Amino acid sequence: MKKYLVTGGAGFIGSHLVDALLAEGHSVVVLDDCSTGRLENIYPDYDATSPNKPERDNLTFVKGSISDQALVLKCLEDISGCFHLAARLGMTLCKEDWVGTSLINLTATISLLDAIQKTYQHHGKMIPVVYASSSAVYGDLGKQAFHEDLKVQPISSYGADKLGCELHAHVANTIYGIPNVGLRFFNVYGTRQRPGTIDSGVIPIFIDHIKKNLPLTVFGSGAQTRDFVHVSDVVQHCLFFMKTMSDKSAIFNVCSGTVININDLIALLRQFSHQPLTVNYAKSRAGDILDALGNPEKAKAAGVTSLVPLVEGLRALWESVT
Ligand code: NAD
Ligand code: UD1
Repeated sequence: MKKYLVTGGAGFIGSHLVDALLAEGHSVVVLDDCSTGRLENIYPDYDATSPNKPERDNLTFVKGSISDQALVLKCLEDISGCFHLAARLGMTLCKEDWVGTSLINLTATISLLDAIQKTYQHHGKMIPVVYASSSAVYGDLGKQAFHEDLKVQPISSYGADKLGCELHAHVANTIYGIPNVGLRFFNVYGTRQRPGTIDSGVIPIFIDHIKKNLPLTVFGSGAQTRDFVHVSDVVQHCLFFMKTMSDKSAIFNVCSGTVININDLIALLRQFSHQPLTVNYAKSRAGDILDALGNPEKAKAAGVTSLVPLVEGLRALWESVT
């Protein structure tokens, strides 16, 4: 049994990872400021009206920010490995608050890596890191399958910050010896992804609107394509790369290797709903990548691959939403 730190562990992907780590018998510390994360994601019996602190075996929840290095240093005590998922997501949010989102997405990642090197200096213990990068680092590279050796050119500050994380993670390894793996998640979907804002993710927004009989809005022509990967596959990649970590720094795509365009996604959801849908078309969002197809071969060669076909994952998600 090991003890892991999961930053952003109360969020969509992080909470599924926490479930998997606990199911494997590990203990977990979650550091999350709950800006988008929710306690009900990690405490199945959570009751907001109860005065009692929620409890779950082998889970410690710490409410706070990854930019608070003193707090991060405390969270790193006795930790065998760190999964770093905390971030501020969304093209629109990152456009509206360029500096604020960058302080979390990039600067706080550097601060976390620095906390790890300080832990090594003071206690002689090296903590390996698996961190969330993004397919947004690639930018608009057309319809080719994006592979890790392509020259990247992000077109959003979010993508630029994630690329910055990869560069600093490489430095963390060469200068301080911190082993790490950056995972370029493509478009992740699954339960616990919330439809609250324009940036919430196209799948939860569309399912929510269809279930409520509201019109869908497509930004652009709907011909833009995405590689949707199920959250259970993302979790398996995180676990796999922590277990097989070398002493180096590496980058891997986490994708399905297939794409669907937004209009075809709507057609698929229409099959589940058996009802006519109203679809409005609006101006494209600034910083929106046109096409994003991932090449999964590097991860596959390392020994891990995505398994959930979109139609199956989507149907299960559709049925889980009341
Ligand atoms: P999410 O918003 O559900 O999770 C992010 C979590 O980080 C939340 O729980 C939030 O409260 C927490 N957080 C934000 N700022 C924090 C701070 N300053 N200190 C501590 N916690 C903070 O989003 P998610 O989809 O689960 O994303 C997880 C990671 O995966 C992020 O790094 C994201 O950039 C990356 N990613 C996600 C996708 C996707 O399709 N969802 C794709 C590519 C990359
Ligand atoms: C998503 C992630 C981002 C990640 C990136 C990796 C979310 C919220 N964001 O961004 O963290 O780094 O993938 O590729 O998961 N769209 C509509 N109508 C809507 C909502 C969206 O047409 O109501 C369109 C968007 O304009 C976009 C596509 O659907 O073209 C996908 O959008 P979205 O799900 O927000 O994801 P990305 O912007 O690709």
